[in-house]
Amino acid sequence: MIALTDKVTYSVEDGVAVLTVDNPPVNALSQGVRQGIKDGVERALEDPAVAAVLLHCAGRTFIAGADITEFASVPQGPDFHAVLAVMENARKPIVAAIHGTALGGGLETALCCHYRVAVEDARFGLPEVNLGLLPGAGGTQRLPRLVGVEKAVDMVVSGNPIRAAEALELGLIDALVTGDLRAQALAFARDAAARGELPRVRDRQDKLAVEPGYFDQVRAAIARKTRGFLAPELNIQCIEAAVSQPFDEGLATEAKLFRQALASPESAAQQYFFFAERQAAKVPGLPKDTPERPINRVGIIGAGTMGGGIAMNMANAGIPVTVVEMSDAALQRGLGVVRKNYENTARKGRISEGDVQARMDLFTGSLDLADLADCDLVIEAVFENMAVKKEIFTKLDAIAAPNAILASNTSALNLNEIAAVTTRPESVIGLHFFSPANVMKLLEVVRGDKTAPDVIQTCMRFAKRIGKVPVLVGVCHGFVGNRILFQRQALEGATPAHIDEVLYEFGLPMGPFQMSDLAGLDIGWSKETSTGSTVSERLCELGRFGQKSGAGYYDYDEQRNRTPAAVAVELFEEFAAKQGITRREIGDEEILDRLLLPMINEGARILEEGIASRASDIDVVYVYGYGWPVYRGGPMHYANSLGLAEVRARLERYRGKTGDAAFEPAALLVELAEKGGSFT
Ligand code: CAA
Repeated sequence: MIALTDKVTYSVEDGVAVLTVDNPPVNALSQGVRQGIKDGVERALEDPAVAAVLLHCAGRTFIAGADITEFASVPQGPDFHAVLAVMENARKPIVAAIHGTALGGGLETALCCHYRVAVEDARFGLPEVNLGLLPGAGGTQRLPRLVGVEKAVDMVVSGNPIRAAEALELGLIDALVTGDLRAQALAFARDAAARGELPRVRDRQDKLAVEPGYFDQVRAAIARKTRGFLAPELNIQCIEAAVSQPFDEGLATEAKLFRQALASPESAAQQYFFFAERQAAKVPGLPKDTPERPINRVGIIGAGTMGGGIAMNMANAGIPVTVVEMSDAALQRGLGVVRKNYENTARKGRISEGDVQARMDLFTGSLDLADLADCDLVIEAVFENMAVKKEIFTKLDAIAAPNAILASNTSALNLNEIAAVTTRPESVIGLHFFSPANVMKLLEVVRGDKTAPDVIQTCMRFAKRIGKVPVLVGVCHGFVGNRILFQRQALEGATPAHIDEVLYEFGLPMGPFQMSDLAGLDIGWSKETSTGSTVSERLCELGRFGQKSGAGYYDYDEQRNRTPAAVAVELFEEFAAKQGITRREIGDEEILDRLLLPMINEGARILEEGIASRASDIDVVYVYGYGWPVYRGGPMHYANSLGLAEVRARLERYRGKTGDAAFEPAALLVELAEKGGSFT
């Protein structure tokens, strides 16, 4: 065996040159991998003892893509396109042996082999869209030639990989093998050499036909979901080029659009976020080999909206879950909602009827906390009341297994106080799920003063097991609290509809007034105690509770379409007059600033206080928990891109203009702005 580079080896076995890529963790196409593959293929072509080439990977996966860490640095040869050209034009058959994930540049490499052989659990995809990119090395030109235009569009726009069985059916791979992939792929390569054919994907034309108007239909169908993103459209344009242009012209179009994508702020933000998300899983000061506690059964206290949603996460991951409620009626109602949710998912074809039952079978309902004695993790999800939570944790402490982790889903209460009622505060932690808990990807893991390292480690890893993105935070009051600022803007002259529109255009799923209408204005309001001292209270007094009553800041028709309500604007005018506030026209930019700058400022304070360990963690929280558009990276990334001196100057300007202390720049922001630094 010869080492071609430190990442690729070469050996000849029975007339087949075997190129083995070994570049952990995911065999990304780093410089040494590109160089090794190119050298290996060239060597094999010159070696008279070699009749075919096998490309395979050591470790957990086939090549999972370009090395994203290289994007920001000066490119080092060999150029990826040059490597692929050598492979595609080779006069000896090249076979890719695929396990794990062949993604992005990895799949593009496989598409330049003459044959592809894979094991059953292999997956194939072009996920570049998730990085604000497109496959820049012929992927968009070759993929549709094998799988057809519609499937190719679906794959590049969604970024979702497909499984081996589907890949075989579509013609993306040539053989599916069970057992020893390397041995079987070697046999395949010898047969291929004997046949003597050299099929190239680029020469295929038979799957490129589409109905006229097809691409516009796709655009219309995805418009809502991809609003604000640049890459989905560029990916579609590439596949259009595959259909309408000769192969080499299509390649040139793809290369041009790739450069456009790579230079875009959207892609910079999405690449930043890719690493932010992975970084968040790592806890500073917690060694990688910190032990974990086993979690085989989870208990949930409360079968309401949160409890039920949290429990679904467990069942989705195949983990048995015991749900405890106070009354049989509440328990049955909760489990009924869970079943209904699963049935809806099955109706949409995302899981089978069998899955619905299999998941429900993982649920055990109970009215007795004592039934949580065999749980390794218990999550309390009752309403936010300190006295109630303390009572539950006292009882739980007496019941739970000695090694069990006791978690609270509280979003606002002091976890340390809850932990203090137990004899094991080191085993108490916060697991703050976001509603709807079975959908939202964010999990805030709240570390108490006494939470033990193995408990933190277990919860961070467990989060990944149930499909969540964990972010470790300290005990604090949560990040929200900007509502008052929206109210203030509306008093000064902006209409609720205008404020909502500006935030929607920025990329948030909806603005604050729409959100209030959706959530219900009467949360925490009662007729008896209402003092009519805010616009929201006055709306409630008028019976305008938001969407559920057909009216709030907006009026709603039967289909819940909204139109701005004149009465809401009149109320703001009335309140402004009473408070002596002069109304004026407020522009889009000011509206946006006055939303975003306090968020950034609050983020700086959170860092100062050590509540979050790094700025990128805060961005992960805002993107996965609050609908911040990922193509803008999160508030801290956004602040860096504006420049912190500029952020500080604007905050000071609004501080002067409104007198509102929320605009007072945080000390950390001032310090970094003066140094010309950034949050990351
Ligand atoms: N480049 C560099 N590092 C990468 C990487 C890549 N393409 N993909 C993953 N990694 C790193 C991660 O940052 C992580 O590093 P740390 O352990 O230091 O945090 C490590 O590999 C493991 O990654 P995950 O934690 O995500 O592991 P997983 O098992 O959950 O998932 C995966 C593995 C499915 C491959 C996932 O990492 C993934 O989706 N990666 C991105 C794949 C991708 O987008 N490929 C396309 C790249 S762009 C491209 O290829 C364009 C082109 O042709 C020019």
